[in-house]
Amino acid sequence: MRIFAALAAGLLLTGFGMAAAQPAMPGAELLPEGAGRDTTLRVCTGCHAPDVIVNRTQKAAPWSDVVQAMVEKGAEATPDETAQIAAYLKKALPETPA
Ligand code: HEC
Repeated sequence: MRIFAALAAGLLLTGFGMAAAQPAMPGAELLPEGAGRDTTLRVCTGCHAPDVIVNRTQKAAPWSDVVQAMVEKGAEATPDETAQIAAYLKKALPETPA
């Protein structure tokens, strides 16, 4: 029995180790450095990975509207942080007219 417990613990540990070794989040590398990037990654990846942001379908929607919509869905950010995020995304992933 003990050996099983030890094996299970070992498997769990290697599992966690591998998860930690993976790149943080799919799409994070597509967000360029810049003021507001850290805040964006912290606030905006609780519900979906950054690739949802990078590969958004409504590319013409102003980022300030998108950020506001996410706050209404439950994203937690102060008004200062939402402004930072919207400004960062506008620069990093410019809106493209439809
Ligand atoms: C409380 C959960 C939650 C948080 C936090 C959140 N989102 Fe979302 N987001 C969603 C859901 C659910 C969807 C898919 C449904 C939709 O598009 O309305 C989505 C979809 C998106 C899309 C895709 C829309 C498209 O045009 O394809 C973008 C872009 C986006 N989120 C940006 C953000 C940004 C920027 C933040 C940080 C301010 C953020 N999200 C934080 C829940 C969240």
